[in-house]
Formats: sequence, structure tokens, C-alpha cells
Amino acid sequence: MNNNRILTGIQSTGLPHLGNLLSVILPTIDLANKSLIPIFISIANLHSLTNIKNIINNKDYIYNILATWIACGLNINKAIIYKQSDIPEVTELAWYLSCFFKYKRLTLVHSFKDKINTLQDINVGLFTYPMLMAADILLYNAKIIPVGKDQLQHIEITRKVARNFNRIMGKTFVLPIALTNVKTMYVKGTDGKKMSKSKNNIINVFISNKILKKQIENIHTDNKSIQSSKDPNTNIIYSIYKLLVSEKLANEIKNKYLNGNYGYFEAKNDLYQCILNRFYNERKLFNSIINDKLYLDKILNNGAEKAREIAHLNISNIRNILRLK
Ligand code: TRP
Repeated sequence: MNNNRILTGIQSTGLPHLGNLLSVILPTIDLANKSLIPIFISIANLHSLTNIKNIINNKDYIYNILATWIACGLNINKAIIYKQSDIPEVTELAWYLSCFFKYKRLTLVHSFKDKINTLQDINVGLFTYPMLMAADILLYNAKIIPVGKDQLQHIEITRKVARNFNRIMGKTFVLPIALTNVKTMYVKGTDGKKMSKSKNNIINVFISNKILKKQIENIHTDNKSIQSSKDPNTNIIYSIYKLLVSEKLANEIKNKYLNGNYGYFEAKNDLYQCILNRFYNERKLFNSIINDKLYLDKILNNGAEKAREIAHLNISNIRNILRLK
């Protein structure tokens, strides 16, 4: 068993946005390309089912996620990237884990509590979502889990359920540790709240110039005149801009805000140009592979084959432990 296995997952809903890229995807690619052992990336299409409206686009979503990782520079020889549903043992393990976790504790999870007032027909899948995520991690004995800050509680739950299982049945699972990227962990969306698809405040990188421009135009600002000095620290445009450029360039723009004669229209255009430049190669590569389904399927099949080997071995051991065999 390898004790330092890195695994991350990303729910396949829509296109990954700038927040996903900066907080998880880019730092994880850095880690993956330097790692001596291949890292695991689960494209979580079963998690995506918790919103059944996603079903119709499920296939496109998977290709979007995969193409994003490749376009951003993931060396596919250094990663085992697979569709979560290709390894059905994950749902089996999710069931076992849910028998080792207290119902009451699960009702306290943020991702569930946050939605309970807004979603009319909340489903059981959304409720047990953390058990499936725990299974995603524990099935592969993963130790290091790169995630955004919003996933920290899910990792805590994964540790808790693993600990319970280990205490009752004997040491079976590795306790995973969350790895977050401090600098870019929190990316503001166009309304100033954390960028998130469900909040409708996202900026997509892999989208037409026209829509990208529109999304940037949506960034909230106050109504200060062009001439007046502006506080970069409370400015959403700047908070995104500074994550994309060197400190030197960020300081130059900071001074422009402070000096005045730098209006929001110009600032938004600078951000737009900055995103086009920063992701020029990535966008080009994304567009050149997104329709090559043969190529993308081959990568997914390869990934599934390797993930399956480990999943089979581990689930068989777990079935033994649970006296199912
Ligand atoms: N829940 C995670 C998210 O919404 C996605 C995810 C699924 C995940 N399985 C995982 C993250 C395993 C880390 C490890 O972003």
C-alpha cells in the first residue's frame, strides 16, 4: 500500500470556473507533475446526480472537466484520471460507510444545511453526499487531498467515518489530510461572494470571448467617478486581478486605483485582457481537444483501468472484514 497517495475530485457540473482553476486545479497540476507517483483525479459524475437537472448534460460535463485538466498542463502520464461511475465499488463502499456514521451528525453538514431552505425537493443523495465523497477517498487509501476551503468539512467527515470504522473493525483505512492552497483559496465571484456555480457569480475561462467579457462586466462596483481614487482592497476586480499576475504588476494596478483617473470600465477591460493573456495557451489547447472524444475517452478508459485495480483489491478486503464473504 502506498501511504502518500494524492487524490482529488471535482464534481462534474458545468465548466470549471476561475475559482476552481486557481484554488484546486492549477496547484494540483503542479503537485501532480512533480510527484513521483501518479495522483488520482476522480471526475465525480455520481455527485453531479444529486441535481437531476444535470443528467442531460452529464457527458459533456465530463469532457469539459477532463479537457480543462489537460489544457491547464496536467501530464496525463502522472495522473490516473477517471470517471467516478466507472468504478461502481465506490457506491458500495459509500453504503458501508453510511452504516458507520451517525445520522444526526450528517444533518449538521454545511453543504446540506445551506441548501435545505432553498431547494424545494431536496433529495436523499444530497444528504448522503459526504458518504460518497468519503468512499471516493477511502477506496483508494488516499492520504493527501487537495481541495478548496468549502470541502474541508467533507474531509473532516471522511476522517471521522474512517476513524469509526477503524476503531470498530480494526485498522482498515488511511486517515486523509486536506491540502489547501493558502494564497488562492478564496476567489471572489462577480458579486463579491465566493465564486461558485450555484451563486451565479462565476467567470469561466474556457468560454467564448463574448461571454467571458459579459461575465467580467457583471462584476459589482460602486459608483465612484473615473477621476476619484479607489480603494483596491475593497475592489472585486482587483481582488481577482491580483491572483493572476506577478506582485510587481499587481502593485502597478494598485497604484492606478489609488491615483484615480482609472475607471471601472478600463479596469474590467484590463482584467479581461489579463485573463486572455494568462490563459492563451490553455484556451487554445482546450478548443483543440474538446471535440476529440476518441482521445478523451481513451484517457478516461486508461484511468478507470488503473483505478479499478486498486478498488477491486480494497473492496474485496473490506467485504471480508464485514463478513460479507
Ligand atoms: N465534493 C467535491 C466538490 O464539490 C468533489 C469531490 C468528489 C471530491 N469526490 C472527491 C474532492 C474526492 C476531493 C476528493 O468539489
